[in-house]
Amino acid sequence: MSLNKKDIIEILKSSDDELFRKADEVRKEYKGDFVHLRGLIEFTNICRCNCFYCGLRAENKELERYRLSEDEILNCVKNAVNMGYKTVVLQGGEDKYYTRDKICNLIEKIKNYDVAVTLSIGERSFEDYKAFKASGADRYLLRIETTDKELYKQLHPNMDFEHRKKCLYELKELGYETGTGCIVGLPNQSIEALADDILFFKELDADMVGVGPLIPHPNTPLANAKKDNFNLALRVMAVIRLILKDINIPATTAMETLHPNGRIIALKSGANVVMPNMTDTKYRAKYEIYPDKICINESPDKCAICIKSKIESIGRKISTSKGFRKDNY
Ligand code: SAM
Ligand code: SF4
Ligand code: FES
Repeated sequence: MSLNKKDIIEILKSSDDELFRKADEVRKEYKGDFVHLRGLIEFTNICRCNCFYCGLRAENKELERYRLSEDEILNCVKNAVNMGYKTVVLQGGEDKYYTRDKICNLIEKIKNYDVAVTLSIGERSFEDYKAFKASGADRYLLRIETTDKELYKQLHPNMDFEHRKKCLYELKELGYETGTGCIVGLPNQSIEALADDILFFKELDADMVGVGPLIPHPNTPLANAKKDNFNLALRVMAVIRLILKDINIPATTAMETLHPNGRIIALKSGANVVMPNMTDTKYRAKYEIYPDKICINESPDKCAICIKSKIESIGRKISTSKGFRKDNY
């Protein structure tokens, strides 16, 4: 479907539920009924950045910081494999402790378990990205967050929109399956800006796009921002499915945090991926990007049972493949 900016704005402004049915149809045609599970390992909450919305921001002094040891990370990987997950996602703040060599070493060890490795560790140099790829990393997640340059500047002190964009193009060039995405509901974010975000994902030819509703965190400058961002985030996600038909789209944790059945609703509105949390229960509460995050007191096995049964309850199947963009089983 060839939607221009004007069409996208119109769809986002409308309240017509037909959008979700159409997105679900496209998902079924291009991705089938399989849902890919990616085991999420939140391996460090230490971050040098100060993104205005995020609870991990360096200036949040209330947060107790942690960093998993290599053994702890590899234990999470082993558990993920035992639960049948075919991908692990290493996600964390921009933590300088993790040098190029440390990350490469970790990737090489994880690759012994025959899983796809996704990294989500922020902006790094081209040389770092190249070395991670050579060590076996398959995918990289780096949300652009917003393509409104003025808004980007306001919300990201000492960061640069053009640099983040450059990172995404470098990741593509290096052959990563490249994931990006945006936050929906940022203060002063217009519908036009969200349409531009969607067109940016198309221009990049993103392989994965994650859309998260903003959930205001009390210890951040956006503490008083509005919280009712679920419906608009779902609409943005569904439009992305209409335009980038064969990509992987996660039903995000933030959606479930704002709506008790958020991930299932997302899976019925264009999404085909879920990222169950693999982090040990003792660290979960400390990876507090936003408040009231789901599964804080659960264990990885409890989440695995829970999410599998939810997915099967709507007639969808758990994929047994690594779930690359080209895979539809
Ligand atoms: N540090 C890496 C980065 O920023 O790319 C990865 C970890 S970061 C915690 C992962 C994502 O969390 C960000 O891309 C951002 O979109 C999301 N996030 C942070 N704070 C949020 C909030 N308050 N509400 C919704 N999403 C949020
Ligand atoms: Fe750090 Fe990522 Fe949070 Fe920004 S969004 S403060 S880079 S963890
Ligand atoms: Fe964690 Fe349901 S996915 S308890």
